[in-house]
Amino acid sequence: MAGNKLNKNNRPAATITNQEKTLKGSDFIVSKTDTKGVIIYCNQIFTSLAGYSASDIIGSNHNLIRHPDMPRLAYKIAWDRIKAKKEFFGFVKNLCADGGYYWVFAYITADLDNNGNIIGYTSVRRKPPQSAIHTITPIYQKLLDAERRGGIDASQKLLDDMLNKQGVSYDEFIITLQKDIKV
Ligand SMILES: Cc1cc2nc3c(=O)[nH]c(=O)nc-3n(C[C@H](O)[C@H](O)[C@H](O)COP(=O)(O)O)c2cc1C
Repeated sequence: MAGNKLNKNNRPAATITNQEKTLKGSDFIVSKTDTKGVIIYCNQIFTSLAGYSASDIIGSNHNLIRHPDMPRLAYKIAWDRIKAKKEFFGFVKNLCADGGYYWVFAYITADLDNNGNIIGYTSVRRKPPQSAIHTITPIYQKLLDAERRGGIDASQKLLDDMLNKQGVSYDEFIITLQKDIKV
């Protein structure tokens, strides 16, 4: 029952720690949600990394594993893309039930019915290269600081300015970082 499910507001407050869990190069973390982001399927690697049972996770909103170090802008970009039936790629730091974290390179896309209507979303995640995490961590910190000062408009402007300066699109920037993978 949805009312019994965990969400980031009613889950037991775990102390955030610096305990990192890492994926193997062969791991794929998979989850599927309904149109609102409520999880309807996840694979075993998802549950073991996040530290929840499948019955805790199924029926919970995906923000169950949202990490406070992540800027809101990352999720806004994701939702804007997938609602428009475009693919999203990005680096995401996720929260484990015990307060630890794990980084992923995430792909999210809409699931369509025969008429092209969105009926849910699917995400597949892989191990990101350490160099990408090294690059993205201070950028997310700056975006988070901008959000605290001036909201999501401020972090969007910061990201746009950074990408313009480098002359790349968001997708080009992200894919370049992921290509550095050594597993
Ligand atoms: C298929 C799918 C997968 C998602 N995967 C994650 C994820 O791994 N981690 C995460 O924090 N949010 C993920 N989200 C985004 C969440 O739905 C949510 O927007 C995000 O956690 C921010 O939540 P908040 O706005 O309530 O703070 C995913 C969404 C979808 C549709």
